[in-house]
Amino acid sequence: MTFAEGISRRDGALYCANVALSTIAADVGTPTFVYNLDAVRARYREHVAAFAGLRHRACYAVKANGSLALLHALAREGCGFDANSAGELARCLRAGADPALITMTGVGKSRRDVEAAFDAGVLRFNIESASECRMISDIAERRGVCAEVLLRLNPDVETDTHPYISTGEAAHKFGLGAADIHALASQAAWLPGLRIAGLSFHLGSQILSPEPYIQALHLLVHVLDSITPLLADAPTVLDIGGGFGVAYEEDQTAFPLSLLANALREVLGERVSSLEVITEPGRSIVANAGVLLSTVEHIKPSPSGTFLIIDAGMNDLLRPALYGALHRIVPLREYENDEQLTYEVVGPVCETGDTFARRYPLPIAVEQGDVVAVLSAGAYASSMSSTYNSRPLAAEVVVSGERWTLSRERQSIEAMLQLERIPDGM
Ligand code: LLP
Repeated sequence: MTFAEGISRRDGALYCANVALSTIAADVGTPTFVYNLDAVRARYREHVAAFAGLRHRACYAVKANGSLALLHALAREGCGFDANSAGELARCLRAGADPALITMTGVGKSRRDVEAAFDAGVLRFNIESASECRMISDIAERRGVCAEVLLRLNPDVETDTHPYISTGEAAHKFGLGAADIHALASQAAWLPGLRIAGLSFHLGSQILSPEPYIQALHLLVHVLDSITPLLADAPTVLDIGGGFGVAYEEDQTAFPLSLLANALREVLGERVSSLEVITEPGRSIVANAGVLLSTVEHIKPSPSGTFLIIDAGMNDLLRPALYGALHRIVPLREYENDEQLTYEVVGPVCETGDTFARRYPLPIAVEQGDVVAVLSAGAYASSMSSTYNSRPLAAEVVVSGERWTLSRERQSIEAMLQLERIPDGM
C-alpha cells in the first residue's frame, strides 16, 4: 500500500523509499522530519519535462524548504533558485548553487538583502515597487554592475486557494498593476544600474486550477507587448511564479502542470522562440517528499473525545493551526486489531489551536510510545517552524534508496539559549 511519494507499507512497517521509518525514529528520536531525496529529484525532473520545447528554467522557491541537503540535491540537478532573503541566498550558496541561476525575490527586500546578492554575484531581481527599483539601481551603480530586473505584475486574478496565501489580487501587497508596470518601466529604463529583462507574476500557493494562470498570462503578454521598446535586447524573460498545488488528501488531484505548459505555448505563440520562461515551484517539488515522525506521548479520553497527544506541535508544523490544513497521519506499525477510533490529534503546545486533526480515524489499539508519520510535511513545515514554548527545532533526515543520514541535528536547549544575555545591573 502506498500513502504518499515513496511512503509505503511493507510487512507491516512503514517505509520511506527503502528505509523503515521505525529505524530512523529509534536512532534519531522524534519529532523528526524525513525527506525522500529520490522523490524530490523525480518531481523536479517531472516539472522540467512538462515545459519541454520551451526555453525554460525552474527556480525552486527556497522558502518551501531550505534544507541544505535538499538544496544540494536540486543544485546538482541543474535547478535554479528563488531566494527571498539574504538568509535564503546564503543557504543556496552553501548548498553549491550557481549564483547565475539565483533570482532574488520578495516584496520587502532590504539594502542588506540586495548587497548580499551583489556580493554573491547574483544579478537578477524580481521587482515589486518603484522605490525598490531605485534602491537596486543605486547600489548597482555604486558597485559598477548592472542588475537584470523583472517587474512583478499584479494581474488581479482570483485563485482557488486559502485567502492567506493568495497573492495576485489588486488588494494584495504584491507586484504592480498593469498601468503602474507601464509607468515604472518608462522610468526604470533610464536608471543606470539596471536593465529590464522582462516581467513576472506569482498568483499564490496550493492552486489547483490552471484558469487563473491562463488569465494572468494573457495580461502578461499584453503588458509585455506594451513595454517591449523599453526592454533590454537580451532574450526577454517571463517568470510565471510557483503555486502549483499538490494532493494532500487521497481524493485531491495535483495541479495539471502539462495543461498550463500547453496553454503557455499557445498564449506565447510566435514569441516563444525569443522568450525565456521561468517557474518558481516550491511545494510541488517537496511537499509529498517529506514526513514528520512523532511519538504518541499520552492518550487521554475525555467526554468530548479521545485526545492523542503527540510530541510534535504547531511549532514544528504550523499549517493545521494557521490555515486549517489537514495532513494525513499514519502509524508506523500495523495493528492486529483493525478497529478504528476517532481521535483529536493534538500537540503539546499551550494553545487549543495546536491541533493536527479533529475526529481523525486511527486504530483503537494505538498505544503510548507508538510513532506516527504526519504526511506531506516536506513543504512549509520545517521552514515555518519556531521554538515556541521553548521547544527546540526538530531533527531532519534525508533518505535515498536504502540509505539515510541525519541532515540537521536536533537543536539542543543550550543552542536555543546561546544568543541570549542576562543584562548586568538592570
Ligand atoms: N514564488 C513566490 C514569489 C512566492 O511567494 C512563493 C510562495 C513561491 C514562488 C512558491 O510557491 P509554491 O510553489 O510553493 O506554492 N506557507 C504557505 C505557503 C506560502 C507560499 C508563499 N509564497 C503554506 O504553508 O501553505
